[in-house]
Formats: sequence, structure tokens, C-alpha cells
Amino acid sequence: MSADAPPPARAGNGLPAAAAAAATVLRHTRERRPGELNLKSCELLHPLIALFHAETMRTASPWDVVAYPIYEDTYAQVARHLGVPVEELVLCPGSEPAIALLVRAFAPIRIVAHAPLFEAWERYAQLYGCAVHPVPPREDGGRLDVADLITALRGGPPSLVVLTQPHGHTGQVFGAGEVTALAEAVSAHDSLLIVDTCYLAFVAGGEATVQATTGLPHVVRVNSFSKAFGLAGARIAAVATHPDTADYLLRFNPESALSGIALTLLRAALRRPDVFASIWTDVRRLRDLLASKVERALPGWLARPSGANFVTFDVPSRAQADLVYVGLLGRGIRTRNLSGLPGLPAAVRISVPSEHAVRCVVDALDGLPGGQDARQGSGGL
Ligand SMILES: Cc1ncc(COP(=O)(O)O)c(C=O)c1O
Repeated sequence: MSADAPPPARAGNGLPAAAAAAATVLRHTRERRPGELNLKSCELLHPLIALFHAETMRTASPWDVVAYPIYEDTYAQVARHLGVPVEELVLCPGSEPAIALLVRAFAPIRIVAHAPLFEAWERYAQLYGCAVHPVPPREDGGRLDVADLITALRGGPPSLVVLTQPHGHTGQVFGAGEVTALAEAVSAHDSLLIVDTCYLAFVAGGEATVQATTGLPHVVRVNSFSKAFGLAGARIAAVATHPDTADYLLRFNPESALSGIALTLLRAALRRPDVFASIWTDVRRLRDLLASKVERALPGWLARPSGANFVTFDVPSRAQADLVYVGLLGRGIRTRNLSGLPGLPAAVRISVPSEHAVRCVVDALDGLPGGQDARQGSGGL
């Protein structure tokens, strides 16, 4: 700011005027609830993963804490993992900060996205003065359609278009052809496509759906390591995009908030793709198991096909969704009640981090109003 620039507008309490505009943005808080099984946040609460990271921490160098981190080796490993050149990568302390960075870097801009949308987008859109254009699911069947995103995009100015692959509320997976068609439409409209691949590792063959588009000039992939690698607490994600966009984003220095320990944990995990691939395979099995057990225990509940590490159930009525959500909570199991969100009049989302977690849900359902014993029958448990 030059010496004679006018001072920024201030509210009466000394805060910038922007603080008043932010007053309706929800503050994010996370509470510690000892003993609770959290099947809401979709973390990879898998005992083998916990042991894996414990071993890395046991052998980590104190210099990871004492010295400022060096990123080079991690960039090389992430580049190999995502199949992109290092010049296309930006490491961030989680994909939420990556989303904040993208909105800030391109604001003011319209954001076109399927609804419901990961809440971070709305938060940063409001903070950085961007309008969100929500594209609801189809009324017949509740599917999210890429063609509807394209129609919304073409109806307005150049935009950030967000595709969550698979979708974070329903687990819906988009085909490679849909992702490519969207990328082409976005490019033709001089816009930017953001593909959030937070849950993609849980889709069998999922990488192939984004391979052709990652690194194109109008595409940004935001790839969290929170869920797939069990690093939610370490805070690390990678953005993969065209080198020019990566260069622009790196000017904001998002790496400065990354800790050396997070880098070390990720590097150790990426050295053992076999360990993680077998866990993802197991998550797919558990997803099917949970779906069948819940459908049997709660007549009328219908599992949506999911590519993620959770299953979203459509429920006959909102009252029943509320009852089961509260009943499970009373038994120490937190799920996500999605009822009332676009295309989800009555729905509950339950993550599947481990066999133990699925067993806890199945056992708890038996004692709930309307619940039936689903512990016997095919699929184990
Ligand atoms: C769709 C989606 N993207 C991103 C994130 C956040 O990931 P991170 O832990 O990397 O900030 C979540 C977390 O719930 C999510 O559901």
C-alpha cells in the first residue's frame, strides 16, 4: 500500500469492514468427545494405519521439528504418486486451505458446483466475496449431472467449476467421459475446473477417471491425503495443475504452514502403496457389508452406490432418519444426518473405516426403534 493510500474502511470497533460482512460465516469448532466413535468425518480410523503412522513417528528425526522443512523429496514422491511432473504440484496443509487459496487467488469469481457442496467452498466464497451458483441433483432419482453444471456455467460469466469425485455427500462417482466433457466445456468458457479427489482412492480404478484432465491449463486437482492415507490430523494435501497455475499459487506460499512431521508421515506412507491399497480394498468390502446389514436391519433404508469410504442411505422419512441418528448418538456413534440437504429429503451418511466400526453400527441398530437384528446372514460379522 502506498503512503498516501486511503486507510481501509473500519467498523466502529476497530475491525476492518470485512469483519462485519464475515459475521454470518459459521465458525468451525471441533470438540473432543472421549469414547465416541466418529463415523461422521470419514477419517481412516483403521487400526493398521494407526500402527503404521505410530512407527513412522517413533523413527522420525528430531530435525523434522527443529529445522524448517525441506520440500523437495516430498514433491518428488507426490509427483510419482499422482503421475504428474513436479512443476504441476503445490503442497498445502490440507485441502481446505487449498480451497481457501484457490478462492482467494481467483476472487472475485462465480463458483458453480453441485449441491450439496463441501462447506469450505461456501465459507471462503463468502469471506472473499464470491457468489456460489448451486446446481441441484436431478428430481428423478437424485443423481448429480455433469450436463447441469455445464448448462449453469454457460449461463453466466467465467467461473470456478467444482466437481467432487466421488461426491462428498452421496459417494456418486462420475465417469472419465463426464470429467473430460466438463473440462472441455470449462476450457471453452475460459473458466477453471477444480476436481476435489478427497475420496478418489476408495474408487476401484478411480485414478483413470481424472488422468486425462489433470495438468490441463483449465483444470486443478485438489487431492487430500486426510482420508485415503489416514493423515487428517497431520494436515497435508496436494494441488496438481498446469505449471503456470501452480507457479501463481506458489506465490502465496501455502507451503509455509506445512509441518516437517506432516511431510515425513506422507513420505513414509507413499513408500508403502501396498499397505494402503489393501486397506482401500478392505474399505470397499466394508462399504458393501454395511450397506447390506443396514438395509436388512432397517426396512426401507436404501444404500446409494458409493465410491467413497462411506455409505449414504435414503430413509423412508425424515423422522426415522432423526430417530436413528439420535439413537446411534446415544450409543456413542456419531454419523451424519444429511436430511434436508438438496436431493436428500431424508438421509444418513455413515463412514466405514474398519470392521470394528461396522460391527458397532450393526449391534447398535438392533436395539433401536424399528431396528432388526442384522448380525446373522451373509457377509460376516
Ligand atoms: C469433499 C471434501 N473435500 C475436502 C475435505 C477436507 O480435506 P482436508 O482434510 O484435506 O482439508 C473434505 C473433508 O471432509 C471433504 O469432504
